[in-house]
Amino acid sequence: MKTTAKAHTNIALIKYWGKRDESLILPMNNSLSLTLDGFYTTTTVEFQDSLMSDRFYLNDRLIDGKEYARVTAFLDRIREAAGRPDAFAEIHSTNHVPTAAGFASSASGFAALAAAAAKAIDLPTDEQKLSILTRQGSGSACRSIYGGFVEWEKGAKADGSDSHAVPIAPADHWDIRVAAVVLSSAEKKVLSREGMRRTVETSAYYPAWVDSIPDDLAAIKDGIAERDFEKVGEIAEANCLRMHATTLAANPPFSYWHSTTLSIMQAVRDLRSAGVPAFFTIDAGPNVKVLYLPEYEATIKETLRNVPGVHDVTVSRPGQGVSYI
Ligand code: PMV
Repeated sequence: MKTTAKAHTNIALIKYWGKRDESLILPMNNSLSLTLDGFYTTTTVEFQDSLMSDRFYLNDRLIDGKEYARVTAFLDRIREAAGRPDAFAEIHSTNHVPTAAGFASSASGFAALAAAAAKAIDLPTDEQKLSILTRQGSGSACRSIYGGFVEWEKGAKADGSDSHAVPIAPADHWDIRVAAVVLSSAEKKVLSREGMRRTVETSAYYPAWVDSIPDDLAAIKDGIAERDFEKVGEIAEANCLRMHATTLAANPPFSYWHSTTLSIMQAVRDLRSAGVPAFFTIDAGPNVKVLYLPEYEATIKETLRNVPGVHDVTVSRPGQGVSYI
């Protein structure tokens, strides 16, 4: 059966930073994200008897090398779970990202791939099983199975069977906006995988990061339930800064920020001083995402576009979970 699935990316408000198991992708800490409607991937999977290996097309280009290896390794898990080790697939994936610049699409990519492949190979799944499966392709992707506000529970079991996302509040719970500020198309120098490993192994601040998570999570969940923008924004921004602080205390130290990243952070603080509620968050790269409320959209866009070094600003609303087309 030929199956097409669509998944949106997500932005973490409480970051996932550090693995306790690299192979199964089990995190050290719970995380919490908002699924975004602005960035998504559609993926079509068809298992064909005539194929002796997988064929993977991304944006109509046949892919080989590392990217291909990551996709086939993930499909191996699905083949194994379905009891069909010799079933190979043709995969067509399209990333709907407004600009080509620096936006990781692994979250939407692996969520769409997991959903399409599991259905195409007749592997019985529900959303929780799909989240567990997706997690093994890319950690943050396990949150993209659900729409709106989503928590990834780290779980305690060694086999990862209790490490999956759970929905906290649906997309229509709260019309909060996220401006994605695009700086550069440069590849990030320290990939999230390597950055996490180095931080867990060497950063003096890493234990403090892990210790800080339960309070952040409890408070942000209250803020989301109450639709308290200041509370949610303050916690998300502080949590982001604490994650990035662990990289500065690693050995060797590193940082994902560019000079323009700092300029945008300052522009957001200046907006707040001028009475416009806005908060930033940054993942494992130089790009910044800014949280704000709809009534400030024009001001936010104009301010961010005017920061020197900014390429583009793209607006997202809360997005839906995975769907089949
Ligand atoms: O799942 P990965 O390997 O793309 O790691 C994502 C890590 C952060 O984006 C920095 C935080 C997060 O929770 O998404």
